[in-house]
Amino acid sequence: MDLLNKIVLTGVKPTGTLHIGNYVGAIRPAIQMGNDVLANGGKLIMFVADYHAVNFMKDAEQLARIIKEAACTYLACGVDPEKAIFFRQSDIPEVFEMTTLLTNFTPKGFMNKAHAYKAAVDKNVAKGEPNDAGINMGLYNYPILMAADILTYGADYVPVGKDQVQHVEITADIAGAVNACYGEPVLKIPQAITQENAALLPGTDGRKMSKSYGNVIPLFGSAEEIKKAVMSIKTDSQDINAPKNPEEILLFQIARGFCAPDLVKEIEEGLKKGGMGYGTIKKMLAEAITTELAPIHEKYVDYMAHYDKVEEMLREGAQKARALARPVLDQFKATVFNQK
Ligand code: TRP
Repeated sequence: MDLLNKIVLTGVKPTGTLHIGNYVGAIRPAIQMGNDVLANGGKLIMFVADYHAVNFMKDAEQLARIIKEAACTYLACGVDPEKAIFFRQSDIPEVFEMTTLLTNFTPKGFMNKAHAYKAAVDKNVAKGEPNDAGINMGLYNYPILMAADILTYGADYVPVGKDQVQHVEITADIAGAVNACYGEPVLKIPQAITQENAALLPGTDGRKMSKSYGNVIPLFGSAEEIKKAVMSIKTDSQDINAPKNPEEILLFQIARGFCAPDLVKEIEEGLKKGGMGYGTIKKMLAEAITTELAPIHEKYVDYMAHYDKVEEMLREGAQKARALARPVLDQFKATVFNQK
């Protein structure tokens, strides 16, 4: 992928307690790609999607807490607020203006097909309720707000989890509709970037890693908590010396998602040859996780304890973001209202 002078953008939905599946699937790759684009003269734009979060969190105290946690997590994981543009979605009034304009170019049918809305309708139908029972316009318009997030800054690439690819495709379609309407490239068409194997990191019982299944390895656990979770990874009763197929072994799948290539290779070979026990591998994995996450955890605690500094970073980030957003929006408005 050519990152030269490109704009990489991603939004972080505050969700509360995170696990290493979130880290491997979303946080680490986005930060990696961010570092790459910055090294290539481009820009990294990252924000906490607090407006989106209102949709599922109406408890103001809890909402404030998960926003704070999300901001501190990304900073601790390596977002450099000096180099990246890191801010809160709701600090950018231009996104709101963009949203209003974009609704006029968005076929209603796009929203009917968006998966979050469809899933909510399917649930209602299954329960014998009216299709739209309990569904608010925030959920229905969720993809338009996300399109505004992306198009307002002229992003080229949007690293996201697989569940968000459709939203980026809708964004590209909306931008395409605007450009087709005026016969000129008013808005830049973005592209979703996903990590191929990252989303596959399973939980300790082999199902998708999810807090609701109680099968997570915590992102910010103590060394003891991490060890305990790793030790609970399900294994089979094959003989320690039997040559094994690593692909069939849950412990290997988790190690492959998290660990550096050298260590993955060592484990892979140990399993193929036989002789490397599951207990040994678990110890290696727990150590690898703790080694990578302990310094991050420490920074996280520090940011949480000095949140006024984080607030200041976010405000400065918002200034930088607005400076990028304004010209894009002004050009769009000039086209729409014939003020060029
Ligand atoms: N909707 C994304 C999620 O649920 C978060 C998000 C909001 C986002 N705006 C965005 C992601 C813009 C990428 C680009 O995870």
